[in-house]
Amino acid sequence: MPPSRPSAAEPGWVGPEQIAAFTAAGTTMHRLFSGPGGWIERLGRDLLISCSSPETLASLLVELEGRKSRLALPIDRIFLRKRWERQGSPKLTLLSGDPSLPMETAAQESGLAYRLRFDAGESTGFFLDQRENRSFLRKKKPLRLLNLFAYTCSFGVAAASAGAQTWNVDLSPRVLEWGKENYRLNGLDPNAHWFLARDARAIVPYLLRRKVRFDACVIDPPTYAHGRKGGDFSLPRDLAGLLSGLFPLCEPGALLLLSTNFGPWHPDDLFREGSRAGERAGAKVEPLPPLPHPADLPEGTGPATLWLRISPRT
Ligand SMILES: C[S@@+](CC[C@H](N)C(=O)[O-])C[C@H]1O[C@@H](n2cnc3c(N)ncnc32)[C@H](O)[C@@H]1O
Repeated sequence: MPPSRPSAAEPGWVGPEQIAAFTAAGTTMHRLFSGPGGWIERLGRDLLISCSSPETLASLLVELEGRKSRLALPIDRIFLRKRWERQGSPKLTLLSGDPSLPMETAAQESGLAYRLRFDAGESTGFFLDQRENRSFLRKKKPLRLLNLFAYTCSFGVAAASAGAQTWNVDLSPRVLEWGKENYRLNGLDPNAHWFLARDARAIVPYLLRRKVRFDACVIDPPTYAHGRKGGDFSLPRDLAGLLSGLFPLCEPGALLLLSTNFGPWHPDDLFREGSRAGERAGAKVEPLPPLPHPADLPEGTGPATLWLRISPRT
């Protein structure tokens, strides 16, 4: 049974029985609280508070203090993401706990371990809001996964743990090294997988020439990112072209996850882009039923995501 939504008795808070259900499922990373001005995440033995003003922080800390004993969680440290400081590359701040503890740690999702870093900028290296999609991918037990915009390769780890060979592609060699570490944390040999520090748009024709084919693909791009040699990536501009190139890499019946944090886009927009690209590439594109919204996230938050089944047109 998935944990149920935060109770109305304690608006915004995930209750102790729900936390126990996460822990029993081997998940020690999830939201603890979600409110209009901020949220609190449990990340293993640490907490991360993200909030939009010093006033919200003060009230969240008071609420947290009042709940600590009922949460019954081992908490070593509390980190803060100041969302009111959006200039440059904001760092996380240690609010409480032993400053001599290592700034890297590991926490679990569905029994798989992931490296988290509190000193690597704004992100700790793991997106909690993709839990249902990682779980779906893992249950489908693909044979070969193409993971574009792989970041720290969480989708690669989920698929590889179910026996897949995985190809992780990201412009940044640094995050791919982090991804390899995530494989090793789970007893998966990175040398048996691929980590390609390339532009996603360039890797597609490369794999086509090498005749590699996939029964699962994940495309979770940024809305906009600087590229090498001026080759910036823009989701609204580049997604359809990327997809038309990708479809010939798909085995008949392949599964494709499209995901975006681009505010104006909903799953319908992802389907429109997929269908258009399918028409151009001669592929049939069918949407799969939506997965349940993550139990710890308020409805209407998180990325827009859509699973598609790709087949050749008959
Ligand atoms: C939103 S993150 C992906 C998150 C990841 N799917 C996960 O669930 O952990 C976007 C990633 O895209 C990478 N990126 C940006 N532009 C790229 C490009 N043109 N080709 C490949 N990777 C790119 C960034 O380095 C970053 O790691």
